[in-house]
Amino acid sequence: MTRILISGGAGFIGRHVTQLLISKSHEVVWLDNLDTQIHGEYEDIHNIRLHEQVKLIVGSVCEKEAWRQAIDGVDAIVHFAAQTGTGQSMYQIARYTDENIGGTGVMWDVLANETHQVKKVLIASSRAIYGEGAYRCISKCGNVVPLPRSKAQLVRHQWSPVCPKCGADVEPIATPEDSTPQPASLYAITKLAQEQMSLTMGKALGISTIALRFQNVFGSGQSLRNPYTGIISIFSNQMRQNLPINIYEDGEETRDFILVNDVAKICELALSSDYEALVLNVGSGLATKVIDLAYNLKYLWNSDSSIEITGDSRVGDIRHNWADLRVLHKVFPDWQPTPLEVGLEKFVAWAATQEIYEDKSKIAAQELKQRNL
Ligand SMILES: NC(=O)c1ccc[n+]([C@@H]2O[C@H](COP(=O)([O-])OP(=O)(O)OC[C@H]3O[C@@H](n4cnc5c(N)ncnc54)[C@H](O)[C@@H]3O)[C@@H](O)[C@H]2O)c1
Ligand SMILES: [Zn+2]
Repeated sequence: MTRILISGGAGFIGRHVTQLLISKSHEVVWLDNLDTQIHGEYEDIHNIRLHEQVKLIVGSVCEKEAWRQAIDGVDAIVHFAAQTGTGQSMYQIARYTDENIGGTGVMWDVLANETHQVKKVLIASSRAIYGEGAYRCISKCGNVVPLPRSKAQLVRHQWSPVCPKCGADVEPIATPEDSTPQPASLYAITKLAQEQMSLTMGKALGISTIALRFQNVFGSGQSLRNPYTGIISIFSNQMRQNLPINIYEDGEETRDFILVNDVAKICELALSSDYEALVLNVGSGLATKVIDLAYNLKYLWNSDSSIEITGDSRVGDIRHNWADLRVLHKVFPDWQPTPLEVGLEKFVAWAATQEIYEDKSKIAAQELKQRNL
């Protein structure tokens, strides 16, 4: 049995990882500040605790003393605590850099300077670090990584990125880990920084470090009240109220959706692996159009919501991205992702048992518009 610290353990992915680790007889400690954007104002701390075995330390990853307390007797750290809204990161810059980059800095500061027995660190990175990710130029440039789309381009409804070398059209392909990072949002920059800080410091301190680049994770326990992130939960909350579903761009944009239980399994496998350093894509390896996702969910919710293509766009959003899973399959050959239809049914069955929240996505969109983002 090992003792594992999960920062942000009270969050969506953290709880699933916790459940799995406890079922395998590990001890779990959480360091979490119970951020109100995720947990609401009045959620009872006792209800947040999943299990008697979880030791909860309420504190921020920005506080050295909280880390000192949290790493006591710990063998491995799963560093999940972060601010996670791509759009929000474009105007709450200091908050995102303080908590995501600064918080990770404090963790490594404590690991470098205090006595501890931590031998492994898992860090939650994101597909966001790729920006548009891998494409193939239809002319003669081969595989390329397009630049983030400009505001002017989005205003013209020219949704597809272009070849950064010759300006020709490009076709998306699965993005492998060695694709050049091209972050298109402040959030993505903080994730890339977390990853690079961790790989560098892990190597220097002899602590095995694995960066997991999650695609769009969904599933039971996802925050249904956070309007800043989680397209499946936001659409679901709206569909349950038969509210119109506004789809950005032309709806043809794609994402790679991965069920949280599959992600938890990867975390467990990564914790018990013996790689000194590793960067891994974690996704389903499949691209799903946002418009198709919306119709799928509408059917599952039996909703009267209208589905409206708005042609609106957000600076920092990407057009397409899905994971190249060759490395993941090589490293963990027995792991297989759950098919999306099965995952969505599971999600809807869970969400149907939850409260319906006031839809605040218009407020979130307004916050961006006001700032011309
Ligand atoms: N959910 C996804 O689709 C996805 C995709 C890519 C990467 N990730 C990354 O995975 C990690 C976990 O994501 P999640 O979806 O579970 O997020 P979440 O928002 O559900 O959970 C984050 C948890 O961290 C806590 N937290 C936030 N700021 C904190 C701070 N300063 N100090 C201590 N605790 C703090 C929150 O209270 C919350 O419990 C994040 O690092 C996120 O960037 C998630
Ligand atoms: Zn080209």
